[in-house]
Amino acid sequence: MHGHPAPPLRSGGCRRVGGSQAHQSGQSSSAGGSASSVRAVVRVSCHQSAFSRQILSTRYFASVQYGDWVILRGVSKNLVENTPRVVEQTTICFVSSRHFCISKRGTQSVNIEFRPVREEEVDDFIRAESRGFGRNATDAYLAHGNRLIEADRTLAAFEGKRLVGTSTSHTLKMTVPGGAAVPTGGIAWVTVQPTHRRRGINTGMMVQQLHRIHERGEPLAALWPSESAIYGRFGYEMAAFGERWTVERQRSALTHSPEEQGQTSFVDSWEARGIFPDVYQRVFSVRSGMVTRNDAAWDDELSGAPQGRSVAEIFYVVYELDGRVDGYVKYRIDRSQSRLIIFELVTATDEAHAALWKFCMGVDLLDTVEGNNRPVDDPLLWMLADPQRLRRESQDALWLRLVDAPVVLAQRRYAKEGKLVIEIQDSICPWNNGRFQLDGGLDGAQCRPTSASADLSLSVADLASGYLGATGYSALQRASRIQEHSVGAIKLMDEMFATDLKPWCAHDF
Ligand SMILES: CC(C)(COP(=O)(O)OP(=O)(O)OC[C@H]1O[C@@H](n2cnc3c(N)ncnc32)[C@H](O)[C@@H]1OP(=O)(O)O)[C@@H](O)C(=O)NCCC(=O)NCCS
Repeated sequence: MHGHPAPPLRSGGCRRVGGSQAHQSGQSSSAGGSASSVRAVVRVSCHQSAFSRQILSTRYFASVQYGDWVILRGVSKNLVENTPRVVEQTTICFVSSRHFCISKRGTQSVNIEFRPVREEEVDDFIRAESRGFGRNATDAYLAHGNRLIEADRTLAAFEGKRLVGTSTSHTLKMTVPGGAAVPTGGIAWVTVQPTHRRRGINTGMMVQQLHRIHERGEPLAALWPSESAIYGRFGYEMAAFGERWTVERQRSALTHSPEEQGQTSFVDSWEARGIFPDVYQRVFSVRSGMVTRNDAAWDDELSGAPQGRSVAEIFYVVYELDGRVDGYVKYRIDRSQSRLIIFELVTATDEAHAALWKFCMGVDLLDTVEGNNRPVDDPLLWMLADPQRLRRESQDALWLRLVDAPVVLAQRRYAKEGKLVIEIQDSICPWNNGRFQLDGGLDGAQCRPTSASADLSLSVADLASGYLGATGYSALQRASRIQEHSVGAIKLMDEMFATDLKPWCAHDF
């Protein structure tokens, strides 16, 4: 993740993606939407309330307001062409027609077109994204991007022929409590060129990405943000945490540990390609927050070194019992800082977990073992003789967006039978607005619109924070983020949404 000290090798976040094969079509469309369904995001500065009233009262627009942004539907071409001249001090960003007009507080006026890139533009897209993060794209990085980017799922911003904003969503599925694998748009590769920032370009891309994900029938969106301040305004919230762990090898004795009967062995990367996906899949099926990693992402993951690091530095070890591999670790040695760095340690049994940690902590001539993005309930803490010497740094990891809230509420299972009327506020995806009756338990759930009075009210982002079970809603209530209307409603919600395992996402896409 970009906002944290970069994890080794994969720097992750919105820019290092685990995507999928490039799609065949790459056909450029006008970023979705016919003339009759043109949408716009209009940011109305505080002294533009007269304009805001005018827009909102115009019969052509179905509009939704969030903060000082207004999303409009059914905008006429006439308005697209004339508004920037008429209205000063206003940022206007039309996100679904071929012509977009942005005017930042009357100081600049540019025409921006938002659309997917064509196959032949993918290299430019990768170069622009790399520049957005302050680097020039190497050949290895271009190859990495080409493996992962699905051209028809990109949404880029163009000023004339110049690419000034990049974003994409990957085709993923996410495990939710109860085990359902829910189609998810994995947002990544988000940048706006430093020459074009703070003009609403990213806002335009993010709002339209959500609408496009909804049109694809994917009820969830997720991302790994570089900075936490960017995505809350679009309804995303922290939903699965990870921890960066540093273990001092001299203090790594274990007092408790499952008995091991299998063995650890090294494998080559091509062998790992045949073995690791199976173990990953076993964990995917039981741990909420895990997302699918398709063939292209596995190829990329095991291709060696997307950032030019020597393949010679990377090692793959598996734990095998009775002919079955139950866990793997991918790591590298950093001699200069005397540490072993775990990229990924994924285990389907407690025995494999203990064996692979012991293996890593047993590698000689090093001072520390570092594990990035460990699950918050990794049992190693309870196995160590000297747990105080384990350094833990919390990371916000995966952010979740309930694109279709009632649909995803019905798709998870609940730890306790319960019935709640939840009032959801969502200013970007208007179909989520309103009161819904959730009727859920261990065996299934239903969630339907209702006119009954609400037991509690919360924003769609607040709802996302506890959806996978990472946190109790009572914590958000104490932070004054949720209103309870019926006494005990939030307590019941906490009991219903609780999970045995904490959510964890091993794949930083
Ligand atoms: C983050 C980024 C994409 C934002 O693009 P942008 O077009 O400038 O964003 P917008 O103009 O739509 O900004 C909308 C709002 O988000 C805020 N915002 C944008 N980037 C922010 C950041 N990094 N931290 C905090 N707030 C941010 C803006 O301040 C603005 O809010 P305001 O109008 O209340 O001031 C761009 O700054 C960028 O490319 N950064 C480097 C790459 C990066 O971090 N990408 C995200 C990867 S997850």
